[in-house]
Amino acid sequence: MARLKLAVLATGRGSNLQAIIDACRRKNFPAEIVLVFSNNPKAYALERAEAAGIATAALSHKNYPGGRVAFDREVSRLLAESGAELIVLAGYLRLLSAEFVGNWVDRMINIHPSLLPAFKGLRAHEQVLEAGVKYSGCTVHYVVPEMDAGPVIAQAVVPVFADDTPATLGRRVLREEHKLLPMVIGLIAGGRVRINDAHAIVDGAAQTDFAHQNPTEALPKTGKHLWRRWRNG
Ligand code: GRF
Repeated sequence: MARLKLAVLATGRGSNLQAIIDACRRKNFPAEIVLVFSNNPKAYALERAEAAGIATAALSHKNYPGGRVAFDREVSRLLAESGAELIVLAGYLRLLSAEFVGNWVDRMINIHPSLLPAFKGLRAHEQVLEAGVKYSGCTVHYVVPEMDAGPVIAQAVVPVFADDTPATLGRRVLREEHKLLPMVIGLIAGGRVRINDAHAIVDGAAQTDFAHQNPTEALPKTGKHLWRRWRNG
């Protein structure tokens, strides 16, 4: 089986990278990581990659001669050289130049910790709590030049509770990120995602019209203990 070649870009702790590494270890997972790149030479993500025997590259954007465009050009060159077929932004905290995005049209995805198009940008969980919405989640989308825009491929939803802090909400969302991102990579590698008129369509996706409500007083009896476990995480 030919596996889809991935390059993963991460700036910090790399827990999403770890979820992808773990998925790639599964027999029959249709993708493999050929390069982990970081703009932060001290990123823990690089250690995770090295521990897994994956090639790494790091280049600090600080004081890079030529600025953002030159830096992105060099990153793009490294990615192309690695043979990557899909670029995965997994906590890559950097604005991308239009040229860089243009090099990887329909071949670059990002994960963002909110239900886009709501709460783009940094500090998503703070924005969610500030707005007082009752649900949040995470989104995997194709990358376009505008930040946190681009065709949405998949989303996962979590409830927001009245006593949440950015940290508790962030942990709840992160658990879903770790499932959603490898799932989407598997779908793309399996040729199941196509872009149709600026929308991403997943072929053969299971459909259910199960509805959630939060807060709720109408919890089915059988669901109660599951709900408590879920809530107490
Ligand atoms: C995640 O919340 C991701 O959605 C956002 O940055 C964070 C990265 O976390 N883009 P990690 O480095 O994968 O642990």
